Amino acid sequence: MAETKKVKWKCMIPLEICTQNWHTILLVKAHHPLESTIMVGRYSLPSGCFRIAHLLFSLRVLVLMSVRVAARPGEPPLDVGSIPWLGHALEFGKDAASFLTRMKEKHGDIFTVLVGGRYVTVLLDPHSYDTVVWEPRTKLDFHAYAVFLMERIFDLQLPHYSPSDEKAKMKPTLLHKDLQALTEAMYTNLRTVLLGDATEAGSGWHEMGLLDFSYNFLLRAGYLTLYGVEALPRTRESRAQDRTHSADVFHTFRQLDLLLPKLARGSLSVGKHRGDPGGRGSFSLQGNMGPAAFWLLLFLLKNPEALAAVRGELEQLLSRTEQTVSQMTTLPQKLLDSMPVLDSVLSESLRLTAAPFITREVMVDLAMPMADGREFSLRRGDRLLLFPFLSPQKDPEIYTDPEVFKYNRFLNSDGSEKKDFYKDGKRLKHYSMPWGAGHNQCLGKAYAISSIKQ
Ligand code: HEM
Repeated sequence: MAETKKVKWKCMIPLEICTQNWHTILLVKAHHPLESTIMVGRYSLPSGCFRIAHLLFSLRVLVLMSVRVAARPGEPPLDVGSIPWLGHALEFGKDAASFLTRMKEKHGDIFTVLVGGRYVTVLLDPHSYDTVVWEPRTKLDFHAYAVFLMERIFDLQLPHYSPSDEKAKMKPTLLHKDLQALTEAMYTNLRTVLLGDATEAGSGWHEMGLLDFSYNFLLRAGYLTLYGVEALPRTRESRAQDRTHSADVFHTFRQLDLLLPKLARGSLSVGKHRGDPGGRGSFSLQGNMGPAAFWLLLFLLKNPEALAAVRGELEQLLSRTEQTVSQMTTLPQKLLDSMPVLDSVLSESLRLTAAPFITREVMVDLAMPMADGREFSLRRGDRLLLFPFLSPQKDPEIYTDPEVFKYNRFLNSDGSEKKDFYKDGKRLKHYSMPWGAGHNQCLGKAYAISSIKQ
């Protein structure tokens, strides 16, 4: 029963719904679109009805908020799907690559889709990516999304959390000219967790799955490298503590990691590639290294020719050093940096498996020029998505037999790194983008590559 004015539900745009007593009282503050007034209603509802009313109310709000029937002139083709508000969310969540391939066939290299109440403009022309990744934050923002994820997934608004500050704090460590210090620490910590765990297992041998192996050890060693060890100089006891502590951290992280994609998909319009940087803090970024190492090892194990080539390269390099591997306290950075065959294997394995969503929040109404001379308008509040996994990475025009692993795809005949790849007769600047590109390119790229190689 209303205690104040009678509210016409049909034409109200609600601003706020609050509850005084969860089961019985519903307070509605709403804006009347015709009268421009704020009306406040107080309703007493039978227990149980509240939840249904709340649900219907919320649904209506969501549908109202998401109505966009057609693209304006100059905007990319719009595809809202057949389900109100949800749009293409289900198909997108199930298999983004197949969905986006289908949309590309229907609409071309650029289109806007409705996904869970959000309008997402998808750009799939690799020649046009450069403009996007170098746009200033005031136009296309990467960090707004990280904050959004924090709020949605964790219901967390940290008063002092700023992704830009976090990035600034990480930069000096990760982009230090001399990577050697990080590489050395990683090498020592890898030995601590790998050899220590094996010794603790008794016989010296410990059996585990390849993914578990890659994920577990890289993440734990990475954690100790970036967040510090128990004591320096290391002792037997401190190493044991490092192992236990990092194993606990890994366990907790793994549980969260399994949970997050589900949560993200449930609450967001666009699911993120696992380990994408949005909002999970710097530690979580290291979670990318395990899967990357897993695929690298798997491709090597499945391709004897590739494995032999990498072995040959390593043996040749080691023959030039004065120490044997067992004598080395670290792998010299110079050695890690002069392995074009292993680099090619890593690039090829990332080309086939790394599928990050490069997303940006559109901060202002924007004109976006395409490389072919066309220009499209983007609306403030929409999201822009690049998906390099489809193109360039799996594009048959750029890579012959794109589904096939070719370990030397990124090698020239003289053994140097191959950088020339073409689409529409034009050389590509971005021919593979597992690390992103531009302002927000992965800060941990060099550290991650060194760690995986070790
Ligand atoms: C194989 C491992 C990794 C892959 C494939 C990877 C990939 C990526 C990608 C695709 C982006 C986003 C680019 C964008 O949206 O424009 C990114 C950003 C980032 N990555 Fe990585 N990453 C890896 C490992 C790491 C590690 C180990 C660290 C640090 C410990 C790290 C730190 C970062 C940071 C800080 C950003 C955000 C940059 C910014 O805010 O502008 N990444 N990474």
